[in-house]
Amino acid sequence: MDKNNAANAGTFKFDDNFIVNRLGYGTMQLTGKGVWGPYKDPDHAVDLIKNAFDLGVNFIDTADSYGPWTADSYLAKALKEYSDSDKIFISDKVGQVRTGENEWTPVGVPAFLRQEVELSLRMFHRDHEDLLFLHRIDSHVPIEDQVGELKKMQDEGKIKHIGISQVSLDELKAAQKIAKIDAVENMYNVGHHKDDDGIVDYAEENNIAFLPWFPLDTGNLAKTNSPLEDIAKKYNASPAQIALAWLLKRSKNIIPIPGTSSLDHLKDNLNAANVNLSSEDFEKLSSLQK
Ligand SMILES: NC(=O)c1ccc[n+]([C@@H]2O[C@H](COP(=O)([O-])OP(=O)(O)OC[C@H]3O[C@@H](n4cnc5c(N)ncnc54)[C@H](OP(=O)(O)O)[C@@H]3O)[C@@H](O)[C@H]2O)c1
Repeated sequence: MDKNNAANAGTFKFDDNFIVNRLGYGTMQLTGKGVWGPYKDPDHAVDLIKNAFDLGVNFIDTADSYGPWTADSYLAKALKEYSDSDKIFISDKVGQVRTGENEWTPVGVPAFLRQEVELSLRMFHRDHEDLLFLHRIDSHVPIEDQVGELKKMQDEGKIKHIGISQVSLDELKAAQKIAKIDAVENMYNVGHHKDDDGIVDYAEENNIAFLPWFPLDTGNLAKTNSPLEDIAKKYNASPAQIALAWLLKRSKNIIPIPGTSSLDHLKDNLNAANVNLSSEDFEKLSSLQK
């Protein structure tokens, strides 16, 4: 198989009809500055997503709040123009509104969550969400109402699997009392994982997918002078590949979703699946964080 194919990373199974390669793609870079407004070259954004499909990426993490709606519009166009689009799974998120560059406000009012799901399904020309995250718990709304609304939509067939994003282990357990939670999406990378309160191991023990957001620490781990440069040289790899290889080795339930606007970087990231870190180097990397 091509060394840059996402299938080299192995798979994660949500259910018999929903099995994804363990290197996905996140659309958040396909927006304007501060995740606000359109990307500077929309045609390039659409082509990049189609390139990802061609390279075996069948799991795309997105959210209506990226732009808002701009990244989703490129994803929708890429899906429309791709012949095998029914083999592409979407990891979507609801529950945040945008008011400007880098401004994010959690809104967990059930009617709003439902509207977001309905508009996303309309955008993607689909009748269900494969995986739908509550992007943030809104502290002004009881969690029972927020996760409960997702559960209602799951019972109606509009959502296959429910996830919850940026949560503690206690919050995950509280959500599990309301609905079956099949995925967690938290900030997590080789440079920042000290907040892990056991949630990654708990996810693995309970067959819950774990999507680490900022897998490259928004590029800091991938750039020149990255703290991973020395070890990268040893493996004849890029620092980005080392960061992703560490995540892939950390737990079989981790599905990294690196974001990029560059085809070269996309291929570089997918090649991370071919880096086999030794146990010694894995431990060394694990102790790198600030
Ligand atoms: N659930 C949440 O609350 C949440 C929050 C944030 C993000 N997310 C999700 O997580 C995904 C990933 O996060 P992210 O995209 O913000 O950060 P990231 O994946 O940690 O890093 C992306 C940055 O790294 C650079 N990069 C990527 N590959 C590279 C490579 N091989 N070499 C050098 N530089 C490279 C990109 O620049 P180039 O464009 O130049 O490649 C970009 O600036 C998002 O797309 C989104 O889907 C979720």
